[in-house]
Order: sequence, then C-alpha cells, then structure tokens
Amino acid sequence: MLVRLQKIIADAGITSRRKAETLILEGRVTVNGQVVTELGSKADPARDHVKVGGKLLGRPARHHYILLHKPIGYLSTVSDPEGRPTVMRLVKGIRERIYPVGRLDYNSSGIMILTNDGELANHLMSRTAAIPRTYHVKLEGQPQPEDLKKLKSGIVLDGERTAPAEIRQVVQREKPWYEITLTEGRNHQVRRMFERIGQPVVKLKRVRIAFLTDEGIAPGSFRHLTPAEVERLKIWKRPEKSSKAR
Ligand code: URA
Repeated sequence: MLVRLQKIIADAGITSRRKAETLILEGRVTVNGQVVTELGSKADPARDHVKVGGKLLGRPARHHYILLHKPIGYLSTVSDPEGRPTVMRLVKGIRERIYPVGRLDYNSSGIMILTNDGELANHLMSRTAAIPRTYHVKLEGQPQPEDLKKLKSGIVLDGERTAPAEIRQVVQREKPWYEITLTEGRNHQVRRMFERIGQPVVKLKRVRIAFLTDEGIAPGSFRHLTPAEVERLKIWKRPEKSSKAR
C-alpha cells in the first residue's frame, strides 16, 4: 500500500510528520536509492527501502504514550549538550526512542506527554486541535483586575496576539496562586504573559493537558496512557465557540 513518505518516517518513530517533511525537503530521504524531495511522494513501507540520512527505516515502531510528572531541574529535551539531566532519565523500561511533546521550562514542573507517535505529537501541538493546557502559577504579588482582563482577552507577544486565556485565582496569599489555561504553547508563554503585567511568576506547574491531570503521578514518576485516553487525544478538536462541552 502506498503511503506518504512523511507518514512512513513518522510511523517509524524517527520524528514527527512535520519534521519529516523538512528532512524530505532537505534531500535527506531516499526511496530505493533515489533522493526524493517532493512532499507528496509516496512509497510502500512493506516493499520500498526508505532511508533517512542514509539509515534504513525499520518496521513501524510500537507506539508508547507516557504521561510524566516533570520535577523542577530537568530539561524537557531528549539530550543536553551541557550534560544537565533531561526528562529521558526519568522514563525507564522503554526501548523505542520516545520524545517529549512540547516543552516545560527547566524551572517548571508538571505533566508532559512523551511518545514515539509522530502523528499524535503533531496533533497535540497543532493550532487546529488547540489542546488546552492548565498551569498553576505563584505570582510575586497581586495582579490588578484590569491587567488580568488584558491577559484573558489577549496581548501581543512576538508581534502576534495571544489566544483568549482562562484565568482564576486559586489561592489567596501575599504571593497568590492563579490558574491559567492556554490553548497555544509559545515559548515561555505563561511567564512572559505575567511579566508583561509586572507580576513575575515565582513557581509554575502544569496540572492539566486536555483531560489528563497529575493526579496519582508523583514528581519524577510516570504512567502509560490507556488506549481510551490515546484515542480521545487523537480525536480532540477545538470546541465550537458557543459549545461548553468537555
Ligand atoms: N509557559 C512557561 O512560561 N513556562 C513553561 O514551562 C510552560 C508554559
């Protein structure tokens, strides 16, 4: 059966479909010895020899779906040139090469998904799915209601307006805790949003991704997602504007 090259590469667990497209465009993919740079190209994974960077792709990888509670002090990358600990150290017993979907800062904690399913990774990061991610943040001080209103409706970061956010206070103290839910994941977005209103984030913890929470997962540990959870993530769509479903 003919399948698009980027899907074959993603299914082999090499990388996400989007990154596979870049590899194809860069001329790093061959099919039966011929370099293929056209994105629409297809091959038969059962018969054709597909190589990426000269390495023959094996059988499609068995997919793994991990929900990890990242503690502070770990990088959310596969490796670090400076030798700092990465979240990969915390995941044991999986032979396939899995990778984190999205990022959590070194100084942030909370849940993240790791997988070798490039398809799902892509979907989770896509703007169309707009997966909500919820954070608990401890702030330096009490923000002004009008500033919170601005953050909720959207501010301009890197020349682009942020999507509407849900924000509510969860702990009332001198350094209060707030809960913020975003449907996009720009670099250091939560920290930058609160910095913009003059209330730096002192602590940041991701407590929810879509319907997944940190319940029962101690910092530094993980669990496998259930098949039902994986299916639910795969079909997750941005809710209709008027809908309160989910
Ligand atoms: N936003 C941030 O600023 N940092 C994180 O780690 C996650 C979201």
